Amino acid sequence: EKAGFDHFMLKEIYEQPKAYRDTMGSRIDPSGKRIVMNELKMTDEYIHRIQQIHIVACGTAYHAGMVGKSIIEKLARIPVETDVASEYRYRSPIITPNTLVVVVSQSGETADTLAALREAKRCGARVVAITNVVGSSVAREADDVIVTWAGPEIAVASTKAYTSQLIAFYLFGLYLAQTLGTQDEAYIADVVTELKLLPDKVEQILQHAEIIKEWAEQISTHDNLFFIGRGIDYAVVLEGSLKLKEISYIHSEAYPSGELKHGTLALIEEGIPVIALATQPELFEKTVSNIKEVKARGAYVFGIHTLGETELVKAVDQVLEIPQTIPLLSPALSVVPLQLLAYYASLARGNDVDKPRNLAKSVTVE
Ligand code: F6R
Repeated sequence: EKAGFDHFMLKEIYEQPKAYRDTMGSRIDPSGKRIVMNELKMTDEYIHRIQQIHIVACGTAYHAGMVGKSIIEKLARIPVETDVASEYRYRSPIITPNTLVVVVSQSGETADTLAALREAKRCGARVVAITNVVGSSVAREADDVIVTWAGPEIAVASTKAYTSQLIAFYLFGLYLAQTLGTQDEAYIADVVTELKLLPDKVEQILQHAEIIKEWAEQISTHDNLFFIGRGIDYAVVLEGSLKLKEISYIHSEAYPSGELKHGTLALIEEGIPVIALATQPELFEKTVSNIKEVKARGAYVFGIHTLGETELVKAVDQVLEIPQTIPLLSPALSVVPLQLLAYYASLARGNDVDKPRNLAKSVTVE
């Protein structure tokens, strides 16, 4: 059932190209230029009325929602807030009939996410669910459902569900943009073209798993480390950090690189590993100077960046280059080495990779 892989998690990491293709599936028009979302019952007239979007989820799904915020704001120019589901109801969120609430849940059974969905509906909002389980509670109670066709996810640590959620956000963001006319047709067609290239690019990254395995063996002897990134890379390193904590039990913090000097830099000492993600061209120079700040204090830096950026290669101790794509799509690539890093670090520490201590796959208590 593990199809020759040692663990479900590794199998699921390698299933991502297929999960991307299946999630895009028939939602890309045969012309390759437009998004079709026949599953959505919301009308174009409703979409024009949306004034704000709340994305609500837990854990890894919440991290997908953070990327979702960037996607929707950039493509559809609608203001988006993100909330952890267990906090949402208790902050008296301002929900109006023109608020669209997007809940994200692999299982569709997470108690806090379901409670947030019910609260949103009670306040008159429309709810879209992005879920991997057709017929789950969340799917049944939402007004609209976007299914991620990742297939069953067995490992407790979520991988292919997260990346399929990203794909769902790209499709939905493009669909909103197309309906609202916030992006021109040529731009939408370009993004769609790049989307379709992602599965092959993930395959290319998977071919470099050996490099990441070596990194994982190096970090596995440490008790603390940092992940840094800016912009959309920050959302991705949050996910990388969660994954590492969850299965390797190594403590890590994800930080927006520019924020370190406001306190956390005090923790950087000789030899501490820092994983730096730098995929965003407009933030690249700033990220390189942030890397130099931690290097100057003795950090050992592993850099992951997009092919062709040579400045970073000089600034870090070890480097992994990932294929180029348009900056907005990079999370669907850059998270893959971070998933592998967590996997191999867990393995190096002799942990039960698929069933980490204290955790359950589906969290049905609040
Ligand atoms: C981490 C992980 C969890 C889940 C979270 C939400 O790897 O899997 O953080 O993402 O418990 O679960 P769903 O998406 O089922 O609502």
